Amino acid sequence: MVQIAPSMLAADFLHLENDVDIVNKYADLFHLDIMDGSFVPNISYGFPVVEAIAKKAAKPMDAHLMIVHPENYIEKFADTGVDMLSFHLNAVDNADQILDRIRALGMHPGLAINPDIPVENLFPYLEKCDYVLLMSVFAGFGGQKFIEDTYDRLAALKKEIRRQGTDCLVQIDGGVSTSNASKLISYGADILVAGSAVFQSDDPAGVITAMRG
Ligand code: DX5
Ligand code: ZN
Repeated sequence: MVQIAPSMLAADFLHLENDVDIVNKYADLFHLDIMDGSFVPNISYGFPVVEAIAKKAAKPMDAHLMIVHPENYIEKFADTGVDMLSFHLNAVDNADQILDRIRALGMHPGLAINPDIPVENLFPYLEKCDYVLLMSVFAGFGGQKFIEDTYDRLAALKKEIRRQGTDCLVQIDGGVSTSNASKLISYGADILVAGSAVFQSDDPAGVITAMRG
């Protein structure tokens, strides 16, 4: 069963509690995009917002770190109550150790790659990951157009996960909507992240339900 993870980057920050309630009622996870203006050319939000969401979140929180030195913030995310923590393979040079530290702190470790990074680069780490995050746009901004190449990348990744016999889930992030969700599910996507498709809709609950297929 696919999980739907609305990206809170697209939420209405003046009425954040309304959008938190929508996720609590209709979705599976809170996707929290953390951008530092260095690993990606944009700045999103930090701990005060994550802590505010944590107070009302009845579903697990999934933080997606698009930052340099993610290893410096792992304890802080654990303290904040984050359940799933991913960082970008290309932001670090010791992914193995960081994945282990995330797990040791009781969170599910995830590894992310941008669309220009070969999926093969993830293969050595699949055993240590509870999920991998395949970007279907270049990390940094919500509201971008889905890159069609993602289907082939997803298929190759799922094939290797089956070959290795691991339980690693695959999360797809960027430009996901009701128009591509069912195809992504048929290719084996386990978690669909959607920001603008959910929160720019007049009917977020309907969009989330429709995306489940
Ligand atoms: C992009 C983020 C995504 C983004 C998704 O860097 O990782 O999570 O917010 O937003 P949409 O669904 O609007 O592409
Ligand atoms: Zn994200």
